[in-house]
Amino acid sequence: MVRVRVRASGVCHSDLHVVEGEWSVPSPLVLGHEGAGVVETIGPGVSGLEPGDHVILSWFSPCRRCRQCARGRVWLCTGTSALEHLLPGGRTVFYRDDGSPVRSFLGLGTFAEAVVVPESAAVPVPSDVPFPIAALIGCSVTTGVGAVVNTAGVRPGDGAVVIGCGGVGQAILMGLNLVGAEPVVAVDLSDERLALAKEMGATHLLRGDDPDLVEKIKDVSGGGADYAFEAIGLPETIELLPSLLGRGGQAIVVGMTPEGAMVGFDPFDLADGGKRIVGCNYGSCVPSVDFPKMARLYASGRLPLDRLIGRTISLDELDGALYDLKHASGLRSVVVFDAG
Ligand SMILES: NC(=O)c1ccc[n+]([C@@H]2O[C@H](COP(=O)([O-])OP(=O)(O)OC[C@H]3O[C@@H](n4cnc5c(N)ncnc54)[C@H](O)[C@@H]3O)[C@@H](O)[C@H]2O)c1
Ligand SMILES: [Zn+2]
Ligand SMILES: [Zn+2]
Repeated sequence: MVRVRVRASGVCHSDLHVVEGEWSVPSPLVLGHEGAGVVETIGPGVSGLEPGDHVILSWFSPCRRCRQCARGRVWLCTGTSALEHLLPGGRTVFYRDDGSPVRSFLGLGTFAEAVVVPESAAVPVPSDVPFPIAALIGCSVTTGVGAVVNTAGVRPGDGAVVIGCGGVGQAILMGLNLVGAEPVVAVDLSDERLALAKEMGATHLLRGDDPDLVEKIKDVSGGGADYAFEAIGLPETIELLPSLLGRGGQAIVVGMTPEGAMVGFDPFDLADGGKRIVGCNYGSCVPSVDFPKMARLYASGRLPLDRLIGRTISLDELDGALYDLKHASGLRSVVVFDAG
């Protein structure tokens, strides 16, 4: 285990899903899962980290023993205690004054000044990566870029559409730009986010409430896209994905719906068109490999991650940031903590 002084934590829609009661999680619980900080102390058996190291926190600390981990697919780990919002061994980090335990969202709980996490959840990065950038690498950036390069495997010249251009959607657009996808259609309801999507390399911008959305996407992508990403988590937009694809196209579900949501699709079209629908968890990433990779791509100017950050706020301003997230106002808010 390592104790990490949190220096920045992004406010992600997955936190908002919990606040809105769309996902059942045990309570009480400290939210926040998109964080970075500095190692303060290390526990027995920790060999790869030292106090003072800058780390990005992974919300999926792999057990490194289960079948999925052994196959290298750590993002599908079945042995992690992170999904129960506990540390390995069922312990908690936080307690109420009366001594009763408080869980940490996805085993992190980064809306706190300090956290304790397994060594596998703290990935070292160079100390010149700014903490807010490092925090975003911990969720939205790796999820979005990973969806493109790991989950989908998009190649130069492939056509893509991205529905939802929030934190995760913008990272998908950056990933598409990185690999040279073209054309790239961005869809959102916010003009500010569509303007940023253009900066991120989108070749066409469309509003999600356009009554001719499907036809327009098909027109600009020569009959249908090679890849269609959903980064909102709305059944209505996930359901659209197969109809936006050309033959042989792939739909990637990145957005996460409220629990229990169902969608329908036309199985004849899927079979006849040889289309695929795949889910994407955490950008199919191996945090210890992919976090440093994202940091290098940022340092070399290939991923303009500074552009993702909206307001930097104090922890006291979190409610306002969740309100902004819900109403898609501004870009991603990041809670910034002092060094303590
Ligand atoms: N698969 C994963 O591992 C993973 C990781 C992180 C986040 N997520 C999920 O991804 C989703 C997006 O997260 P985020 O933090 O980017 O959220 P966000 O709120 O920042 O972005 C959502 C965007 O969707 C837009 N939108 C809303 N309704 C729309 C519509 N009808 N048409 C077009 N655009 C519309 C909003 O304007 C906003 O820009 C959430 O469901 C989150 O839980 C999944
Ligand atoms: Zn997240
Ligand atoms: Zn595992």
